[in-house]
Amino acid sequence: MSESPLHIGLIGCGTVGSGVARILSEQHRLLERQCGRRLCLKRVVVRHPDRPRPGLPESVPVTDRIDDILQDESIDLAVQLIGGTDAALDYARRLLQAGRDLVTANKALICAHGSELFQLAGRLKRTIGFEAAVAGGIPVISTLTTALTGNRIESIEGILNGTSNFILSRMLTDNQTYEQALSLAQKQGYAEADPTLDVDGTDAAQKLSILIRLAFATDVPVEKMIRRGIDRIMLSDLEAAAALGYRIKLLAMARRNQEQLEAWVQPALIHHERTLAQTSGADNIVTITGSAVGRLRLAGAGAGQMPTASAVVADIIDYATGRAARTFDAVLRSQTAPSLDIQPQEAPRHRYYIRCTVDDRPHVLADVTDVLGRHEISISSLHQDEPTGANDRPAARLIIMTHQTTEGRMRNADQDLHRLDCVRDQPLRLPVAD
Ligand SMILES: NC(=O)c1ccc[n+]([C@@H]2O[C@H](COP(=O)([O-])OP(=O)(O)OC[C@H]3O[C@@H](n4cnc5c(N)ncnc54)[C@H](OP(=O)(O)O)[C@@H]3O)[C@@H](O)[C@H]2O)c1
Repeated sequence: MSESPLHIGLIGCGTVGSGVARILSEQHRLLERQCGRRLCLKRVVVRHPDRPRPGLPESVPVTDRIDDILQDESIDLAVQLIGGTDAALDYARRLLQAGRDLVTANKALICAHGSELFQLAGRLKRTIGFEAAVAGGIPVISTLTTALTGNRIESIEGILNGTSNFILSRMLTDNQTYEQALSLAQKQGYAEADPTLDVDGTDAAQKLSILIRLAFATDVPVEKMIRRGIDRIMLSDLEAAAALGYRIKLLAMARRNQEQLEAWVQPALIHHERTLAQTSGADNIVTITGSAVGRLRLAGAGAGQMPTASAVVADIIDYATGRAARTFDAVLRSQTAPSLDIQPQEAPRHRYYIRCTVDDRPHVLADVTDVLGRHEISISSLHQDEPTGANDRPAARLIIMTHQTTEGRMRNADQDLHRLDCVRDQPLRLPVAD
């Protein structure tokens, strides 16, 4: 057992930070055994130092000055648990330059500035641990950077946003509208007051972008991905998909496709027998297919205070035991593999689910199927509900399943469908993840 403790500076003591402080204090004996030395929380930096911090030992000084950590030469490791990319990037650069190693849970930071920070850390012989940045408590980063390094990764599929998964699951099980399920998610702490980044696919796309960098050595900015959210999904879509044998999930996908990389985040139909389809509530799942290992599934809590803190503390232990240097080296080496070209957004091929509301009058079906036919999209099934609405202007909902076609053809067909007089709303189109 080493005499000298590991001194930690904690930046951010909100949901995740206070969970980390709790583990450091409640599990100090276990951690000491795991690390072979004591872990000592030396200082905490937050925005509002006067707020009560339950669970934080009174002996730990709390300030709002990052310089208190930068100038404390006894601090070895900075654990940065603040959101956003402005102060977080500035602090991360300065901490690395001041000789601190870094652990972070900030996916937005690693997604947008990971390459720069990894290079900087590599040059300065420092390390960055970011296990908690993707899928909370699920050890997907260490799986990719250690356990699967003997594999060529073929694909990564995942449900990476617990809020969206909670909403879609509750809509179907509790017969709720999107708005009702979102409000329940907010009440139960699964959604922020402003849930935009969760429900529009940005959060899942940031996490997928980080995994892509590790698995395929390719930078795919969030803006270059097909990215759609769940806010246009109606209960009736979930029911129609269920009747066809599918569940609708916000799916993140990255796969090699003829030496190009197909990458997207969008709601998709998944066959109900697949494990991905059965992942419900706020849980996350990541399915990785490797050339030797085959298909590997990791599932569990993708967010939340203690699951995320669990991943942060694992990074702290890795640092304390010297493993972080080897793991981070593997991260840096993975970046030197040849990168893949990103497949054009029009290229992915899927079967599609289309829902549109049309006037209930003669020739409408002919008009809709004519548009699809002109774009060489072949229909595999078509269902029309009984009409609803005022007697003088009844409407009917059409559910169309197509055979395989490309995203590009579907985009063009979408526009033409929307231009038809008989089509009442913007058709909803979802790929089938066969
Ligand atoms: N919550 C989760 O389940 C979860 C899961 C995975 C990853 N993450 C990531 O973990 C990070 C932290 O999330 P969180 O949920 O713990 O956030 P949070 O509850 O909002 O806490 C943020 C903390 O950072 C402090 N802070 C913010 N800006 C600061 C600045 N410029 N200088 C110093 N301190 C600052 C805040 O201080 P005050 O307390 O004084 O306001 C607060 O203590 C984010 O990047 C998030 O994406 C969170």
